[in-house]
Amino acid sequence: MAEDLRRGAAAAHGLLTLLTDRIDDGLLEAAPKLVAVSNMATGYDNVDIAAAGRRLVLVSRTPGVLTETSADLAFGLLLAAARRIAEGDRYVRAGNWRTWGPEIMLGPDVHGAALGIIGLGRIGTAVARRAAGFGMRVLYHGRNRKPEAEKDLGVVYADLDTLLARSDFVSIHAALTDDTRGLIGAGQLGLMKPTAILINTARGPLVDQDALYEALRSAAIAGAALDVTDPEPLPADSPLLSLDNVVITPHIASASVATRSEMARLAAENLLASLAGDVNDNAVNPEIAGDWRAARSERLRG
Ligand code: DGY
Repeated sequence: MAEDLRRGAAAAHGLLTLLTDRIDDGLLEAAPKLVAVSNMATGYDNVDIAAAGRRLVLVSRTPGVLTETSADLAFGLLLAAARRIAEGDRYVRAGNWRTWGPEIMLGPDVHGAALGIIGLGRIGTAVARRAAGFGMRVLYHGRNRKPEAEKDLGVVYADLDTLLARSDFVSIHAALTDDTRGLIGAGQLGLMKPTAILINTARGPLVDQDALYEALRSAAIAGAALDVTDPEPLPADSPLLSLDNVVITPHIASASVATRSEMARLAAENLLASLAGDVNDNAVNPEIAGDWRAARSERLRG
């Protein structure tokens, strides 16, 4: 697949990419006519933005259109992990449901619990709105304080350690960068309550997966729900899959029919806009616009 991409890119002015396509300096070097990369995702950690900037390739993404759908899945995973929905389904299918019992499949309440949101961007904010409907108290942590969200949603800012220590659920919505890789490791997991549940629908490498396995195995935290893993796909022999207190889905947060259609439409629109010389709000590296426009004209002529 990577070879096909490299072969196709050699003569391409534009690339419409998926988050599984690695756009690194080597690929960009092999694509001398390339003007624009349009990534069909809101995240763009699969693209080497510094290299794209050096080589005057405009990169765009598809934010906004997947916010609500992604928040739906994050909240769904939170509920699934807390109320042991996937585990209950396995239990029934395995023929273990013999009676109703007062202590069968107990989990924590979601309503009224404390939710910590790491990264109060569009999706994090949409999760906070859903949490309000469940009467949850919401703490958030991010690079910047969000006074408007604090006023409108009643969310409370906390430093990361405080958020981890006080939350019953921790949901990650941060972008993956060099600064956030491994954001949640053994130290951070160690701060969480033994009853707490970690939800990650952002990017797998934000969490140290070995440390997470250990925390789940030893019951240092109660559970996890992951829509993203490191690597993806998660190998079938991953130790995580031996645990009952983790729910794992295959990176489907934005996977509704309507949202994936919108993402595809927006990615195509972004690519056409870039090829026409427009730098719209979805551009990730608009700072290169000046030199990029000159390079674009030359590459489209060549
Ligand atoms: C994204 O857009 O970055 C998601 O991970 C896939 O929808």
